[in-house]
Amino acid sequence: MVRASTAVLAAAAALALYGCARKDETPTINASMTGVMEPKAEKIWGIASHAYNDIGDALLPEKISDADWKEIGEAGRAIKERAAILATAPHVVVATANEPIMGSQAVGQKGNLGKAWEAVSAQAVQARIEADRPGFQAKARVLVEAADGLVRASQTKDAALFYKIASGMDEVCDGCHEPFWGTDVPPPLPLAGGQRVQ
Ligand code: HEC
Repeated sequence: MVRASTAVLAAAAALALYGCARKDETPTINASMTGVMEPKAEKIWGIASHAYNDIGDALLPEKISDADWKEIGEAGRAIKERAAILATAPHVVVATANEPIMGSQAVGQKGNLGKAWEAVSAQAVQARIEADRPGFQAKARVLVEAADGLVRASQTKDAALFYKIASGMDEVCDGCHEPFWGTDVPPPLPLAGGQRVQ
């Protein structure tokens, strides 16, 4: 399930619009997700998935090249830096007015996957965050810690530590998505007159 939701998120993120926060402003959550979290996490998961041993319960250090370690460090630093902004900024905006978030086009429409997914608007996500800023910041700090582990693993080329973090990162992401976004999978496409809306 972890793999499937990750792949779906990746495909959807590739289609997502990038936020255009100005340099002097705190980037929106949406821009952070589509521009940093998703692409960097994909790098991490990609490197890990190439280095699994036969039974998939550890990584083979010889399958992680120096270039990979460098990339792990860079991705870890980028995630850590952005997660730290989400954890400390006095006010974080989910998305600007013209920045659609994944699934928001389906708000108010009945999905075809039953209760598994409830589409929410950026405003609804914003309200959840405003109602529990400390909770949101705590979830962002969990990601800061995980990303810090990636940086440390890259410095010492520690394949066991890299495995531990790469294999648990999906849960760290979802740990924030579940309470504040309400999902970790995109919405089923709404049906309009029996036709799928593209
Ligand atoms: C501290 C909270 C938090 C953490 C941690 C977090 N996210 Fe998110 N993420 C959100 C929120 C809130 C949304 C919903 C708003 C949105 O879609 O932009 C979201 C949405 C997304 C989306 C959909 C973006 C879109 O197009 O609408 C992707 C992709 C994503 N996150 C990837 C990740 C990945 C990968 C990680 C872990 C490396 C991660 N997120 C960690 C809060 C978080």
